[in-house]
Amino acid sequence: MTDHAPTPPAAPQFGAERLSVAPMMDWTDRHCRYFHRLMTRRAMLYTEMVTAPAIVHGPKARLLDFSAEEHPVALQLGGSDPAELAAAVRIARDWGYDEINLNCGCPSDRVQSGCFGAVLMERPALVADCVAAMAAESPVPVTVKCRIGVDDQTPEEVLPRFLETVAAAGVRHFVVHARKAWLQGLSPKENRDIPPLDYDLVLRMKVRFPELTICLNGGVTRLDQARGLLAQGLDGVMIGRAAYQEPGQVLIGADALWGEDFAPDPVAVVRAMLPYVEAHLAGGGRLHQITRHMLGLFHGRPGAKGWRQVLSVEGVREGAGPEVLLAALERITAPTLAA
Ligand SMILES: Cc1cc2nc3c(=O)[nH]c(=O)nc-3n(C[C@H](O)[C@H](O)[C@H](O)COP(=O)(O)O)c2cc1C
Repeated sequence: MTDHAPTPPAAPQFGAERLSVAPMMDWTDRHCRYFHRLMTRRAMLYTEMVTAPAIVHGPKARLLDFSAEEHPVALQLGGSDPAELAAAVRIARDWGYDEINLNCGCPSDRVQSGCFGAVLMERPALVADCVAAMAAESPVPVTVKCRIGVDDQTPEEVLPRFLETVAAAGVRHFVVHARKAWLQGLSPKENRDIPPLDYDLVLRMKVRFPELTICLNGGVTRLDQARGLLAQGLDGVMIGRAAYQEPGQVLIGADALWGEDFAPDPVAVVRAMLPYVEAHLAGGGRLHQITRHMLGLFHGRPGAKGWRQVLSVEGVREGAGPEVLLAALERITAPTLAA
């Protein structure tokens, strides 16, 4: 594993927005993204949300370092202070991310209290100020991830106004999580499942704003579904939980969306992780920090339970190394031996 802080921006990759893996706190860290990249060369991979104050005041390398192999990779920022967001972008630009995204969709309490995330759906003019300040510091596109509305807002009115106002500040690329966030009374987890999905509204936004790149997020679990939404005119589909929980099903073969036949065998993906794992351990890291993201790789395949078991029992032990990964792999490649 190589550290790449700072790196020059990568060559822009055409059309990476067609499929992306969503920003997910505690999940899409650099190890997860490295693993996902072994399954798709083309999809855009988003970081976890990093708040602007954390970047300005906190441990920059820990928050921003990533491996060059992860490209194309988008940094998601949280915040609502234009000057602070601009300062965060100014710092982060040396790292060479391919896109900077502003989180206007996350409903957690912590995020609301700082006035950022989904509560920004109520303040499109402030979002416009934020993205304008960010774009002034960014050599790469500034994009926005939002909801269709919050609480008792009427999405049919609020979403087009939001897109119009923020686009006027220069944003060309939106990812719309196709459900409202209810800021009172629902946990963040419930807010990803309970408010109903409205794909039709997102499709109508593409018709209304054909010049904008509109990507849909929420509830997509299979590549066929993504292909269907792209065929209806959307520019991209972002997949969150399914990509993380069943990466073999969702990400292997995804490059067909770009007409490419790259589709590695999941066993080969595990083997390809070994040098990365060894470098991480040599640097003082723990096996589980990487393998926790790999538990779902063989989902639905004979031996998947054994694979998960070995990784989650043996993989967390002090001093666990690549031999645990190889032992777990035997549950897949030689399930009868390990039974
Ligand atoms: C564990 C977890 C953490 C998340 N963290 C973030 C985040 O940091 N920023 C963000 O914009 N959305 C976050 N989300 C929401 C996802 O990006 C996505 O919008 C949501 O899961 C819906 O997509 P899906 O149905 O494909 O999972 C998170 C979701 C999960 C499951």
